[in-house]
Amino acid sequence: MTKTRIPLAGLLGSPVSHSKSPILHGYWLKRYGIAGHYIPMDVAHDDLPQVLNTLPKLGFVGVNVTIPHKEAVLAIADLVTDRASLIGAANTLIFREDGKIHADNTDGYGFIENLRHGAPDWQPKAGPAVVFGAGGASRAVIASLLDVGVTEIRLANRTRQRAEALRQEFGPKIIVVDWVQAGNVIEDAATVVNTTSLGMVGKPEFRVPLDALSPASVVTDLVYTPLRTGFLDAAERAGCTTVDGLGMLLHQGAPGFERWFGVRPEVDEDTRRAVLGA
Ligand code: ATR
Repeated sequence: MTKTRIPLAGLLGSPVSHSKSPILHGYWLKRYGIAGHYIPMDVAHDDLPQVLNTLPKLGFVGVNVTIPHKEAVLAIADLVTDRASLIGAANTLIFREDGKIHADNTDGYGFIENLRHGAPDWQPKAGPAVVFGAGGASRAVIASLLDVGVTEIRLANRTRQRAEALRQEFGPKIIVVDWVQAGNVIEDAATVVNTTSLGMVGKPEFRVPLDALSPASVVTDLVYTPLRTGFLDAAERAGCTTVDGLGMLLHQGAPGFERWFGVRPEVDEDTRRAVLGA
């Protein structure tokens, strides 16, 4: 690719119209004066290999990947980072100049950065973590919590079998807890995370009782529509430090933006406002 070409990036998924990533990257492109574009692209599963083969020829330097392609891109990529293989999914692709596709997963990084910024006193090793949910998002959260040295993760999922499967994969630091019992194992938690879709606009409320939460816990929800979920409200009533889920989206976008456009973007209040206001 010649250097004079306008760099393009974007989002591959289906659907993509609800995503805030185009607003986020569009904001950063403008802020840093970069003559590039970030384009949402609704792509069907069967078209994925051909699309990934064609995009670099059109001037794309990389893409984000979302549902339902996050797992499928691993088989198409030429290089997969350790964290993406561990999570079993990629959210960021880099189209290298030698033609190779590099797949990474920055969701766990975004999760940890959001906690570090939102709760500067957070001590991940101060106690066990409690994670609600055992879907795709949970895998990234679990991998990143283990990576920062958490020694025990209590994992509760409505479908217990999915939690058991994650224990098989991630090992004995994962303790599977029954969904209905989960409210009883949160008392001494340093970190409490909702990775389920409960509490999201249009979904049922999160109903596991959180009365036993200690004020020492840092509590975060991956749901960010609405920004203040019932889960975070309950944690706030218990005196906990709470961190909303929007920051995870913002932080997971930064490494991709840097690789594609050559500038490490800052995640700050202005970035948050830009994404919320649009
Ligand atoms: P994601 O990739 O975003 O994590 P997912 O793989 O569909 O999405 O996982 C959604 C999570 O929300 C799962 O943990 C799911 O629980 P199940 O494994 O039992 O399906 C959880 N979830 C969704 N609706 C739920 C509900 N009504 N009650 C409890 N958990 C629910």
